[in-house]
Amino acid sequence: MRVKEAIRRIMQFDIIASKVEDSDFNLLKTYPEFVFLRKLLKNELSEFVDKNREHVLSILDVGTGPGSILLTTRDVTGPQCHLVGMDISLKMLKVARRKIGKAASLVQAPAENMPFRDEVFDLVFSRNALHHLCNIDMGLAEIKRVLRHNGAFICIESVGPNNDALTYWIPILRYKDRTRTTYFTEISLIKLIESSGFNVELKEVLTHKISLKEWLDRSSLTTEARKNVLNMILELPNDAKKAYGIEIKEIKEKSIIFTRYVCILLARKVL
Ligand SMILES: C[S@@+](CC[C@H](N)C(=O)[O-])C[C@H]1O[C@@H](n2cnc3c(N)ncnc32)[C@H](O)[C@@H]1O
Repeated sequence: MRVKEAIRRIMQFDIIASKVEDSDFNLLKTYPEFVFLRKLLKNELSEFVDKNREHVLSILDVGTGPGSILLTTRDVTGPQCHLVGMDISLKMLKVARRKIGKAASLVQAPAENMPFRDEVFDLVFSRNALHHLCNIDMGLAEIKRVLRHNGAFICIESVGPNNDALTYWIPILRYKDRTRTTYFTEISLIKLIESSGFNVELKEVLTHKISLKEWLDRSSLTTEARKNVLNMILELPNDAKKAYGIEIKEIKEKSIIFTRYVCILLARKVL
């Protein structure tokens, strides 16, 4: 990527950072992926700790943003793990620093070129970060490189319910967030992870009913742009509306409900 393009992208995420500053971690904690993650971490980490009693676990969150994965992990692990959050946006990291305090190291770097030695992390997370990468293959190769041999990659991504519905939903996602580069279904995500040298050991697709208002509150859209998103949703064909579980009680953001599909994968690198 050219330097100008890289700077433009960092600035876009810096702008979004001012929005996520206000987003409420207590609300996010109730999202099904965070509930699931807490349970998964409790099992996964106790297994790791049993096997590696002597060493302090190192955990990396790629594209950490405001640090919600770091906060969730710290809640489960307590202080005995070394947590690292990495992001290209310094403003995002400043938000994360305010939330996590000194409980994690924060590093500004691109996922495609990580400033870490080989095989230093026991766990690597990415939540809704892969779909922003300009070069996902490089990002996944870096995740594989920095993971220890029996380490795990926990990947959480919003996905479409199927290809056809996703094709209709993509213009809405693109309009809501221009920094996005990729759109996944569960199948395409698994294919990508496996073709990047990982074995997917666990997969789960969670559904979550959310109002259009709550979804748009996490964006940097203007009032006018939010109206356009609402109209785009109203104009979706019926099959796509059905696939996304769209319920319209009134033509108001908070009265339009849809289903988010969230895919969680636990993958280990193929040796
Ligand atoms: C949708 S946010 C997700 C934040 C966080 N993982 C969460 O679940 O709340 C995506 C994050 O990825 C970061 N990001 C985008 N491209 C990146 C890259 N190439 N390398 C590292 N971070 C990147 C953005 O700055 C942003 O903070």
